[in-house]
Amino acid sequence: MGKTVLSIVGARPNFMKIGPVIDGLKSVGIAAPLVHTGQHYDEAMNDRFFSDLGLPRPDVNLEVGSGSHAQQTAEIMRRFEPVLDEIAPDALLVVGDVNSTIACALVAAKKGVRVIHVEAGLRSYDRAMPEEINRVLTDQISDLLFITERDALANLIREGIDPARVIFVGNVMIDTLVKNLPRAVPAAATLSAAGAGFAEGYALVTLHRPSNVDDPVVLTRLLTVLAEIAAATPVVFPIHPRTRARIEQAGLSPLVEKADMLLLPPAGYLEMLGLMRSARLAITDSGGVQEETTALGVPCLTVRENTERPITVTAGTNSVVGTDPESIRATWRDILATGGKTGRIPEFWDGKAGERIAAALAGRL
Ligand code: UD1
Repeated sequence: MGKTVLSIVGARPNFMKIGPVIDGLKSVGIAAPLVHTGQHYDEAMNDRFFSDLGLPRPDVNLEVGSGSHAQQTAEIMRRFEPVLDEIAPDALLVVGDVNSTIACALVAAKKGVRVIHVEAGLRSYDRAMPEEINRVLTDQISDLLFITERDALANLIREGIDPARVIFVGNVMIDTLVKNLPRAVPAAATLSAAGAGFAEGYALVTLHRPSNVDDPVVLTRLLTVLAEIAAATPVVFPIHPRTRARIEQAGLSPLVEKADMLLLPPAGYLEMLGLMRSARLAITDSGGVQEETTALGVPCLTVRENTERPITVTAGTNSVVGTDPESIRATWRDILATGGKTGRIPEFWDGKAGERIAAALAGRL
């Protein structure tokens, strides 16, 4: 009988990972239904990515929406259980490290449904990061773990995971990038539509990690240094809804408005790809942007104390600079002066990770 692998998406960073997996599964004759938890639901955070990426419409949307971590995770679990019973797949496939990932993996593991984790083994070793808890726990209850970089294996072995269950396949998010680069919206089009008088030479900023935006002291510090950078280099800043809300709550809107930054609503995937490709540098706390800039050869300055994606630093264009204004400034100046790190493309970030996953599953289900 034909096999079925049920895939889950929930939040923005899941959307650019799932297409290559579903295409791969279908190509080896595995049925690939899709459940959306509804963790992200705004047009700009959700619908746009489905159309940009040509993703299949989810078979079910659990429509959980926002909430505290406990509420959101619990609500996903409660609503997902009957759907899992109904679909009764041979395995559940989850990607990344968002609340939807752990919630659905936990439901499946307790029901004896095999769990497959794509993008396993990444560790920041920072348990203050909600995603780190999601990563560690999802990996512990997964039967098959697909990794994006070889170092991830050592992390998993340290946590007692049998290396026989771990397979190095590369990075499905880069599959999506490779496939869509020819369709990227040119930065010049996005920027002129937003009224900007420049089309290159800019710093592209994204910020949304709770550790950076939830604490008004840290947020003020970061926005102040960004305003300083904006006085010398054009700054383009598509704002995540969480960040927008925190800026307003902390009374920082005047600071942002006074600075010469181009604020945009959250960008769609094809728009973001165009903006990244033409940027002089990126300043970010996103996991995905660290990887995408490495794949594009654009210098990236990561405003976090650590990264769970060390290959972007050792092989790629990423520098982890923390949130200290002086180190942000110093790295930014260095990038302007020297062009920044050039880097190389990490092993298996070649557009074929989805195929490797499908080939591995075809032999194992
Ligand atoms: C989630 C992921 C994070 C990922 C990020 C990308 C977890 C723990 N975090 O963080 O790893 O990098 O997505 O965006 O899963 N909101 C909207 N519209 C939406 C979705 C959210 O306005 O469509 C607002 C709500 O006020 C919500 C807040 O953003 O409370 C945070 O959303 P949530 O899904 O809890 O976490 P993110 O910060 O988006």
